[in-house]
Amino acid sequence: MSRDGAAALLEVRVSHKDYSSAGARPQRALENFVLSLPVGRAGAVVGPSGCGKTTLLRIIAGLDTEFSGEVTLPAGGRLGMVFQEPRLLPWRSVIDNLRIAAPQASEEALAALLAALELSEHARHFPGELSLGLARRVAIARALAIEPDLLLLDEPFVSLDDALARDLRARIAVLIDERHVTTLIVTHDLREAIELADVIFLLSPRPSRVGATLNVTTPRKLMTKDVADALEARARKEIEAMRGC
Ligand SMILES: Nc1ncnc2c1ncn2[C@@H]1O[C@H](COP(=O)(O)OP(=O)(O)O)[C@@H](O)[C@H]1O
Ligand SMILES: [Mg+2]
Repeated sequence: MSRDGAAALLEVRVSHKDYSSAGARPQRALENFVLSLPVGRAGAVVGPSGCGKTTLLRIIAGLDTEFSGEVTLPAGGRLGMVFQEPRLLPWRSVIDNLRIAAPQASEEALAALLAALELSEHARHFPGELSLGLARRVAIARALAIEPDLLLLDEPFVSLDDALARDLRARIAVLIDERHVTTLIVTHDLREAIELADVIFLLSPRPSRVGATLNVTTPRKLMTKDVADALEARARKEIEAMRGC
């Protein structure tokens, strides 16, 4: 907490998170999980499928309270969450999906967001008329419309083809740089993390914890292939040392 009582960090301390199911032994998903992210920064949590990334986001978002530990949200505490599935209201147009999520937002602000994500021409379309890539962009616009203090993104590029994923990554990078929204993105793709994040949290084998933290000191706009390759090699060494997830 800063002096005025407002949190300047996202802080997660989960001593443990277990899943129990009838007749089976409880499964420990997270253990001694500690992560902190300064306000205005973009963090990426990297680990393969099944290692607890969605579990972590649900805990941070307050959707799962069955864990031992505590989460401190950045000052304001307003959350924008983009799930793996876009979860749009199917019977509402794109612009109405935004209006319902953010009734206090001005029409100008919503129009600017749609423009930033190149969605203006789809404002009156319904979710069923959109490709997955477009629907993801709407889900991101909707999360940003509430002017979140923290933006949580769960594998937003999964099941998009390479060109679309690259395009969406570039758009999110611009939004992070221009709006300075504290962002936590979870992904199984190291390269994606290097392209987007200021700090990368590498998850250990299950039960997951942050096994290594890598700072990306090169600004997003100045990232070159050589710098990204070097960072990737360093991260792979760290992951090797943890023996994967
Ligand atoms: N609702 C649930 N009940 C029981 N086990 C679960 C539940 N959700 C997730 N798990 C288990 O917890 C682990 C982490 O899952 P998850 O957080 O979805 O991983 P990730 O998002 O990294 O793929 C997995 O082993 C998964 O099977
Ligand atoms: Mg997941």
